[in-house]
Amino acid sequence: MDTFKHPAPPAVPESVVEWVRSVESLTRPQSVVWCDGSPGEDARMRDAIVASGAGVRLNPGLRPNSLLVRSDPRDVARVEERTFICCRSRKDAGPTNNWMEPGAMKSRLHRLFDGCMSGRTLYVIPFSMGPIGSPIAKYGVEISDSPYVVANMRIMTRVGLAVYSEIERTGEFVKCLHSVGSPLATGARDVPWPCDPDNTHIVHFPEERLIMSYGSGYGGNALLGKKCFALRIASAMARDEGWMAEHMLILGMKSPDGAKTYVTAAFPSACGKTNFAMMVPPAHMKSEGWEITCVGDDIAWIKPGADGALRAINPEAGFFGVAPGTSFSSNPVAMECIRRDTIFTNVALTVDGDVWWEGMTPEPPEGLIDWKGRAWSPGMVDSDGKPVSSSHPNSRFTAPAVNCPVLDPEWENPEGVPVSAILFGGRRTGTMPLVCQAFNWVHGVYLGATMGSETTAAAAGAVGQVRRDPMAMLPFCGYNMGDYFAHWLEMRKLIKHVPRIFHVNWFRKDANGRYLWPGFGENARLLRWMVERCRLGAHALETAIGWLPEAGDLDLEGLDVSAAQFAEAQRIDTAEWHRELLLQDELFINLYSHLPKELVFQRELLMARL
Ligand code: GTP
Ligand code: SPV
Ligand code: MN
Repeated sequence: MDTFKHPAPPAVPESVVEWVRSVESLTRPQSVVWCDGSPGEDARMRDAIVASGAGVRLNPGLRPNSLLVRSDPRDVARVEERTFICCRSRKDAGPTNNWMEPGAMKSRLHRLFDGCMSGRTLYVIPFSMGPIGSPIAKYGVEISDSPYVVANMRIMTRVGLAVYSEIERTGEFVKCLHSVGSPLATGARDVPWPCDPDNTHIVHFPEERLIMSYGSGYGGNALLGKKCFALRIASAMARDEGWMAEHMLILGMKSPDGAKTYVTAAFPSACGKTNFAMMVPPAHMKSEGWEITCVGDDIAWIKPGADGALRAINPEAGFFGVAPGTSFSSNPVAMECIRRDTIFTNVALTVDGDVWWEGMTPEPPEGLIDWKGRAWSPGMVDSDGKPVSSSHPNSRFTAPAVNCPVLDPEWENPEGVPVSAILFGGRRTGTMPLVCQAFNWVHGVYLGATMGSETTAAAAGAVGQVRRDPMAMLPFCGYNMGDYFAHWLEMRKLIKHVPRIFHVNWFRKDANGRYLWPGFGENARLLRWMVERCRLGAHALETAIGWLPEAGDLDLEGLDVSAAQFAEAQRIDTAEWHRELLLQDELFINLYSHLPKELVFQRELLMARL
């Protein structure tokens, strides 16, 4: 019998009520709200965000039903060094994850969570990752003391009481506990964006399907359905259950003959997934009948289907996209997605109550208020003389998927869409060609496993350093990376129709530091070659590193890229590749005890071919 002050609605399963009550006793909130995902509730959350001083309602004439929110300047990105995988054995977390013994971590967290919600409201958010009832979907309940989290979760996931009957039916849910870590004394004045940067902890207990996140209210640190559940916990579930949870976009490409080909692509954070997922093909391709539709821009859950194909769903229901650089020329579809019903975080505010960020238009409008709430003008520099941008480099928009004008009609197919090709790609100034195809699945797994990329503003820390980011999962794999590679190799045995694997690099530069390839919508030309490679065996050249298209194999019509420039973008520089093989050593030595032999052999073969 539920005897607490804020009784649970009748739909809530006993297991959920019990967990909420234990968290309530620990965190001691002023009140408890059982969320139902309704529009009325959403309006109350937005009112609360505005009342707190963190949010500004945007001009409804320009940006209906949208908010601008400013975070604490110390809480602006994921914190990888405070992210932990706490399984019983250190070996299961592996050398690429932070680990602590679960009992010891829990005592530390219990001290932090003790009374941490005093003076605040505890929200209980039931959500589904994936279409409710889908055989690939999973359910979670997030407890949070942040109305900003409630409002964002409602966009990014499917929030509603219907989730409770699925939890009842399946007998399981992922426990997602979040607090901004800023208890409020009676009568004390709150700050607009409460957080506790010195004590931030993003902790996963994969064996218990439990997440505990403390101290940050930003993005993947706080919207626990996203990286914490849909990648770190789900990757561990997927290993146990024979499927895959990947940091991948999903798109469909329709050929002029009407055939639809689905492709997934793993690029590290802020390396172009949203852009690629919503890409608008060049005009001549459109008139020939090529069409690109979006299923998802960040996460794919992929399961062998009854038909022998890999089938993918987007477990999310919205886009949490990088704002800077998004414009009507770079990503017009994203600009349509954010026309309304969007929460913007850490971008600039215009005089007429709209948003702006670097790259949205060539010239900034006058009279901007920057992401810190101060008057901003172009050319401003900080005390070190560095230019000050009006929006934070990791500022984001949260927009509902249904706003997307090119949303794929199958995006909510509970069985998922069949995957014909998998792309890996990083941000590499040199070495890696624009596009190449792996010889087979094992070679493709090797290409993904050895992926390198320059770090971006999506995570706190240095930007622009090349690091190994296997399958774009370095910060998101919930278990030993070596075992994760073995799981990829195992998956081959569970499927009949094996996707083709490609590696791409839009970021290669010439000796003068200029991009060799225009990128964005023009990437549709490369995608076309990849799709035709899968479907019709389009021509390619066999090289030491894989199958590469030659200029004549691609549609370069009307493009300002000479055959010589294309050749430069595709060039295999043996000296660079020798260095690349040495750089892979760090990863291979680090993972040695769990590294599948197949990958060691792939490296030997590559060395021999070079
Ligand atoms: P997360 O949401 O952090 O996982 O990242 P994402 O992979 O969705 O990143 P997003 O698409 O928002 O990447 C944004 C960055 O990639 C911006 O700096 C863009 O300018 C850059 N970018 C995207 N596509 C291209 C491209 O084709 N060429 C080049 N040169 N840059 C690109
Ligand atoms: C990423 O960093 O890969 C993101 C943004 O997609 S966040 O959800 O904050 O992790
Ligand atoms: Mn991401």
